[in-house]
Amino acid sequence: PDRDLLIGRLPKCELHIHIEGSLEPDMMVALARRNNVTLPWDSVEAVRRAYRFGSLQDFLDVYYVGMSVLVTEQDFYDLATAYLRRAHADNVVHVEMFFDPQGHTSRGVAFDTVVNGLHRACRDARETLGLSASLIMCFLRHLDERDAERTLDAALAHRERIVGVGLDSSEQGHPPEKFRRVFARARDAGFHLFAHAGEEGPPAYVWQALDVLGVRRVDHGNRAVEDEALVARLARDRVPLTMCPLSNLRLRVIDDLVHHPLRRMTDKGVAVTVNSDDPAYFGGYVNDNFRAVAASLDLAPAEIVALARTSFEAAMMSAEERARAL
Ligand code: HPA
Ligand code: ZN
Repeated sequence: PDRDLLIGRLPKCELHIHIEGSLEPDMMVALARRNNVTLPWDSVEAVRRAYRFGSLQDFLDVYYVGMSVLVTEQDFYDLATAYLRRAHADNVVHVEMFFDPQGHTSRGVAFDTVVNGLHRACRDARETLGLSASLIMCFLRHLDERDAERTLDAALAHRERIVGVGLDSSEQGHPPEKFRRVFARARDAGFHLFAHAGEEGPPAYVWQALDVLGVRRVDHGNRAVEDEALVARLARDRVPLTMCPLSNLRLRVIDDLVHHPLRRMTDKGVAVTVNSDDPAYFGGYVNDNFRAVAASLDLAPAEIVALARTSFEAAMMSAEERARAL
């Protein structure tokens, strides 16, 4: 229908995409062969069958095994290039891409290998596709702060190739305040700050992301809807939420898209964006997420346009990138 045409045509930014979560099953199986990595699944179909998740942790258990096929700089380049081409087809003009260095360094892959491959893909995409793409390094919150500190130390050597730091992985039991010191150091080093909060965790974790870590933008933030004062705070300060409807559905954060909190947030003046999170695992890229949530919440064309416009407001683009995108 008209709504889908509009979604396809709208220029947009994608601000919540884990590049390791864009690893499609066929590339996973091909890279496993190329690198002699043994997977617990013996075919593309078997990989697909493993994608039934009851919670965030169920997904993460598969996600960390999946990324074990990424070994060489070329693997990271190929992964990011495939995603950027796919995003370009969805009229994405600017990407802020999360990556999980600790998911690789813990397997003996050098930090430099990861960043060099991803950065080269972003640079080439600028030339060949005309879209801008930057990197946000996430700390794995199920690991301790010391491990995050060592990861930040490694990132300082690549300061100009990484625009920010974020926080992801298992949320429950790992509150943002666990990473207070390393985020303060990252801020002093000039990184933009982000954190996943309120996906499975309580509104208190969103408050901590804002007041203890000092983040500029909150990833997911679904459960902020339970706390009226928190919603008012997000609206007042125009702290954007990067929401991911199909992820929420697949990870059972919500039982049906008609219950998605996106509309309740925008109605209160919160800046909301629509994103894909881990598109290879959750069954859709960014336009699929727009289409699914627009259909379920019966969004009007003006509301869809506003979501795409908010993605530009929420993006951390340089003046030069903004001029190129608009
Ligand atoms: N939540 C937390 N950690 C993640 C996610 C997510 O949705 N995707 C990849 N790592
Ligand atoms: Zn995420």
